[in-house]
Amino acid sequence: DKAGHKHFMAKEIAEQPTVIAEALGHYLSAEGEISLPEPGLDFTSVDRLTMVACGTAYYACLTAKYWFEQIARLPVDVDVASEFRYREPPVPARTTALFVSQSGETADTLAALRYCNGRADRIVSVVNVPESSIARESDLVLPIHAGVEVGVASTKAFTCQLSVLFILALKAACDRGEMDAATLADHVSALRSLPSVLSTALEANQEMQKAALKLAEARDVLFLGRGLMYPLAHEGALKLKEISYIHAEAYASGELKHGPIALVDKTVPVVVMAPRDALFDKTVSNMQEVMARKGRVILVSDKQGLAEAGDGAFATIELPTVPDAVTPILYAIPAQLLAYHTAVAKGTDVDQPRNLAKSVTVE
Ligand code: M6R
Repeated sequence: DKAGHKHFMAKEIAEQPTVIAEALGHYLSAEGEISLPEPGLDFTSVDRLTMVACGTAYYACLTAKYWFEQIARLPVDVDVASEFRYREPPVPARTTALFVSQSGETADTLAALRYCNGRADRIVSVVNVPESSIARESDLVLPIHAGVEVGVASTKAFTCQLSVLFILALKAACDRGEMDAATLADHVSALRSLPSVLSTALEANQEMQKAALKLAEARDVLFLGRGLMYPLAHEGALKLKEISYIHAEAYASGELKHGPIALVDKTVPVVVMAPRDALFDKTVSNMQEVMARKGRVILVSDKQGLAEAGDGAFATIELPTVPDAVTPILYAIPAQLLAYHTAVAKGTDVDQPRNLAKSVTVE
């Protein structure tokens, strides 16, 4: 049932404020304390986290790496499952292996999990389907409570994965003595503000539709971001490829001059994800390099960011201002909606894009 929406993807995008609130309710007490399902996880015995996944779940892991490293000072490796399983990497002592999968049935992710069984100290999974194979073979299961996701393009599962992984990074920071109570309270309140700021972001549809018309004409699209926006740039590019069949690539903004800027001309839209954070000026200077080569910039930022750097952009998308750490969860909305409106403009099959399956249970 599409609940009045044209596509399951639109419905699932719109559900995000509700399902994130649901997910938060399972991991945060009324007093703002973090609670994990049994048997829990004490990060004082963890020296390294190895995260493995495919597709969108992999980009959730890449985002979480920034959180675990910056907030909890815990070293993290992230791998795509199909590489990890055949590379057979050494698993150092005191490593926890963490697998992220919406379906819990992805063949490569399951094989990577089995490789870690007996090598890592423990197997943790972040899944949407608690009865899945990946969940059954884990020592600790962290459900994301997103509800059934029908659209092949993963949307609400991504933001729920991020929400749960962020809470896990906060838990790691507390266990490792890297976070005081006041800072934890600030992060928890940032999380709790998400359902309402996501609802606001979902209303900013007009600018997204305008930008999508530009994207729909393009053969190639670049997505740029730094820090927490870098994995999100990948997620935006993946969404666009999957459902609109437009070639899209993501780069860390700082990589632009190491090659991809050679692609830029007036036919190449460049989506820049840049909240007004500590790296904003750096990203803006990369954006100006794009503009100087007549690239059509679609700048996604907040009020202050757009006031400082919005001039000259082909389109701007304004999002609410939120604390830096939670920006990936908010900026996922335009990543999803830009792809969605582009696909609708092109008339492709949004929910069942060609050649793709919802769950990749064979290699
Ligand atoms: O069920 P999983 O999360 O393990 O699936 C992983 C990928 O197949 C999945 O995220 C895929 O990339 C999506 N179609 C992305 O929208």
